Amino acid sequence: MVERGSSHAWTVRLCDVTDSNSARNIVLGVAGGIAAYKACHLVRNFKEHGDNVRVVPTESALNFVGAATFEALSGNPVSTSVFDAVESVQHVAVGQEADAVVIAPATADVIARLAAGRADDLLTATVLVATCPIIVAPAMHTEMWNNPATQDNVKTLRRRGITVMEPAHGRLTGKDTGAGRLPEPEQIADIVRTELAGFHINHSWSGLKVVISAGGTQEELDPVRYLGNRSSGRQGFALAEVAAHKGADVTIVAGNTTKLPVPSGATLRHIVSARDLETVMREESRDADIVIMAAAVADYRPANVADSKIKKGKMDDALAALQMVENPDVLKALVAARQKGDVPQKCVIVGFAAETGDADSSALEYAEEKFARKGCDLLMANEVGRGMIFSQENSEGWILQRYEKPLRVEQGSKHVVAAQILGVVEKMIELGN
Ligand code: CTP
Repeated sequence: MVERGSSHAWTVRLCDVTDSNSARNIVLGVAGGIAAYKACHLVRNFKEHGDNVRVVPTESALNFVGAATFEALSGNPVSTSVFDAVESVQHVAVGQEADAVVIAPATADVIARLAAGRADDLLTATVLVATCPIIVAPAMHTEMWNNPATQDNVKTLRRRGITVMEPAHGRLTGKDTGAGRLPEPEQIADIVRTELAGFHINHSWSGLKVVISAGGTQEELDPVRYLGNRSSGRQGFALAEVAAHKGADVTIVAGNTTKLPVPSGATLRHIVSARDLETVMREESRDADIVIMAAAVADYRPANVADSKIKKGKMDDALAALQMVENPDVLKALVAARQKGDVPQKCVIVGFAAETGDADSSALEYAEEKFARKGCDLLMANEVGRGMIFSQENSEGWILQRYEKPLRVEQGSKHVVAAQILGVVEKMIELGN
């Protein structure tokens, strides 16, 4: 149900299961760029998660998407000017009531006006009033993004605590390709929800190289079959996304994953087997500041790979004769490489542990044993099984560090978990490990 007090007051309340205490007021600012249409998907995404959305476009955004579309999708009135609905003082009220302000797409012009502290339309006035998290998702041509004026303005916004996402690389309007695309709506929504959960993504990692393995390895059995696992790669990609928006130079070494958008600005390298993973991780870690092994690595591989497809009639014999050999432990190998000086001494190495408890020990106890065995600096332990964690949207568990009690990570999106892991890594770097 949509209640409207005055025609312009922001009084939407949804009267179904989404009308819980968790419904937040999100202001979605839309600037005038071709990517404005993607803001419609963002409205949908927020609404589907039960949040109230108030779209505040600039005048020029309405050249791309009409107010009626934003009103219909959000269920809230749309205005652009501080002189609309003056009786409800909305140039102040919209910002005061917001739990998050998101600007997507943000053009070079809007970024410049925000940096200058202008309040010449409802959107910029709202940003000046808001004390909640503010997330800016830029979209413009590469030249405009790289222009020193825009870069200075972006730095100013970041210095003031505004999260300016890195633009994606790819096809732009027209024939050109480069940095400046709006990240996908779900990527923006994930970052917004991370900030709403209380984890601010500061831009403090520029100049740091972060290498993250993600997804599952596949071990060949014959030309058409492999032994694999259920890892979706979501946690590794979420870590990469958060690290990239912190300004790091991010490389993802990806095995088999579900189809996931590449985090803005990250470099993607594909691997298949555990042995490929070891080769690429050793190579990429040579100059890394942070290495995260989020991949689910097969511990064993078939000793021999059949040259031709094993026929159904011969499968029993083939399986009876199947011998498995142990794969390298990549995480341990990287810790050893750091001891030898092949990975920088200052590099922080993070492992993951997927554990199930049993009659002998709890999942946490198994994770603590694993942490001691692997020699990494930090271990994110997840309890898995019974549909938990693997392929799921959410995760939970404990962060283990030497000389510290396990830090409980409550259930949250993989981005929220990623922000917590990287927050602990950031503290370790500040303290010189
Ligand atoms: N790992 C690795 N190389 C392997 C196996 C695991 O680098 N051959 C890494 C994973 O990426 C993860 C950590 O080690 O960061 C723990 O992985 P996990 O599968 O939980 O542990 P295992 O060492 O395989 O131990 P177990 O299967 O006995 O639980």
